[in-house]
Amino acid sequence: MKGVVLAGGLGSRLSPLTRITNKHLLPVFNKPMIYYPIEALINAGIDDIMIVTGGNSAGDFLKLLRNGKDFGLKHLNYTYQEGEGGIADALSLVQHFADDGPVCVILGDNIIEGNIRAAADEYRAQGKGAKILLKKVPDPQRFGVPELDGSRVLNIEEKPSVPKSDLAVIGIYFYDATVFDVIKTLVPSGRGELEITDVNNHYIRRGEMTWNELDGWWTDAGTFDSLLLASNLVAKTGANNL
Ligand code: G1P
Repeated sequence: MKGVVLAGGLGSRLSPLTRITNKHLLPVFNKPMIYYPIEALINAGIDDIMIVTGGNSAGDFLKLLRNGKDFGLKHLNYTYQEGEGGIADALSLVQHFADDGPVCVILGDNIIEGNIRAAADEYRAQGKGAKILLKKVPDPQRFGVPELDGSRVLNIEEKPSVPKSDLAVIGIYFYDATVFDVIKTLVPSGRGELEITDVNNHYIRRGEMTWNELDGWWTDAGTFDSLLLASNLVAKTGANNL
């Protein structure tokens, strides 16, 4: 399975920190933000990785990460997202890289305490469809929120004002190669983006979506509060613990 780190976008919720640089290059405790999702993939045994970037300072990713030596990699792949088309639009750029195989997609501002190895192994065994990871949060209205019926996920709503559960769909997803056909059917949401939640709802309607609950803490780092929280959590316990 190949890995994809989505690190584009304008990071407008962190302006002016993101006026001249990319959100994913900002520090989280003692490392640039993008180090954490790369490590999360590597810990799951995924070492063929593509970084999708765009917006400000795209060239700085190459300067910072080079061929991935800091992570024990021999090679890293890069691609460039034009404009601000959203997560699913960014994902559509990796079709050639995926080469008809499955991908694990991680948002470049998502940081986890533990690892996703068990989920990755279960997804490999699943063989097709998709898998999402869920985490109980105090503020589900900030995220994609699932409606569950026992072990079945019925639907996901993006940033609902009245959430149907206290769970967030975290920014780590497993997809088979049909994801690229799904993305071609999407229309932009109210915020003008192709939403990953719409991709996930397609798989749910096809009866091909599974989920796991994530162990350990999880946070995004795309707002001032969550960026500070991420640094404090990493300082306290470290991230991507094996
Ligand atoms: C995105 C997704 C959302 C998900 C979140 C996780 O939100 O749209 O479903 O819960 O990432 O970080 P965004 O950060 O684009 O608002």
